[in-house]
Amino acid sequence: MINDIEHVPVLLNEAIDALSLTKDEVYVDATFGLGGYTKAILNKQNCKVLAIDRDPQAKIFANNLKKDFADRFYFKSGNFSDLGKFLKELKIYQVGGIVFDLGVSSPQLDVKERGFSFKLDGPLDMRMSCEGPTAEEFLDKVEEVTLADIIYELGDEVFSKKIAKNIIHQRSINKIKTTGQLADIVRDAIPKKKSKIDLATKTFQAIRIYLNDEIKELEQGLIAAEKALRPEGRLAVISFHSIEDRIVKNFFHECLQNKSLSRHIPELPKKKPSLEILTKKPILPSVKEINSNHRSRSAKLRIAKRTHFSSSFGEIA
Ligand SMILES: C[S@@+](CC[C@H](N)C(=O)[O-])C[C@H]1O[C@@H](n2cnc3c(N)ncnc32)[C@H](O)[C@@H]1O
Repeated sequence: MINDIEHVPVLLNEAIDALSLTKDEVYVDATFGLGGYTKAILNKQNCKVLAIDRDPQAKIFANNLKKDFADRFYFKSGNFSDLGKFLKELKIYQVGGIVFDLGVSSPQLDVKERGFSFKLDGPLDMRMSCEGPTAEEFLDKVEEVTLADIIYELGDEVFSKKIAKNIIHQRSINKIKTTGQLADIVRDAIPKKKSKIDLATKTFQAIRIYLNDEIKELEQGLIAAEKALRPEGRLAVISFHSIEDRIVKNFFHECLQNKSLSRHIPELPKKKPSLEILTKKPILPSVKEINSNHRSRSAKLRIAKRTHFSSSFGEIA
């Protein structure tokens, strides 16, 4: 039963505190999932929340929450890069805070039919939105060099070439249809060594990021968020791997230095910072949280505050 599935929100108190909630203000939960953050925000302050998620199953959890918070909770099914469009549809022009809790939810990982997990043997799917090509279709057609590049760049995997070669070789013998098959093919391609993480981890991460266009989504989502924040509004982003964290960190610095326009047109006068960075170093989960929720172990929270100066990226979409 979908309603029996759980997701323990990571760095929940820290992220909610970061938003500095104010009465009657609108907040955005850009990655609703099972609604852990949204629920905590609505319970803590008499404010409104617009929540977004591209997973069709998130709508089921949103409908449940709507029963308790009908007049303070809006849900939009889709990509968080479309945040500007969603706000416009609701005639909301500025918001008090936005939180992103990136990556996959526990049900996406734990339900084998979703095809994200190398621990469970399910169909090779990996699509958050359940739309577009599946991982099976992608692996059936992709060229070896392209695949090696994806695994190297999005998985930080040094054995990317060996893994790509083995995948292409194995698919010429048998179609690769399940997560179990793929995990074994990856493990077989890598020299066996003592490792805390499963040898298939990085390759699964890379294929998932590629298939769901997660890098572009994050870059566009952050730009949309910076445009939508009111002065003093907060932006809180929780990431789970170094590629995401680097994008968030660089984005915050770009807005601090307001490089976006002058990078393209150097003769333009330098603009004022649009974000103030509130976390010089990211906030990490406590040992207690890591012990009680293993999935929090790689989480990093970065927080920024919108200044009174104009947006780095133009006015709200
Ligand atoms: C880690 S979970 C969020 C869990 C949530 N904070 C909770 O407490 O239940 C991440 C969620 O973000 C969604 N997601 C990831 N990328 C997205 C994107 N580009 N647009 C919309 N939703 C996205 C996923 O479908 C997933 O449900």
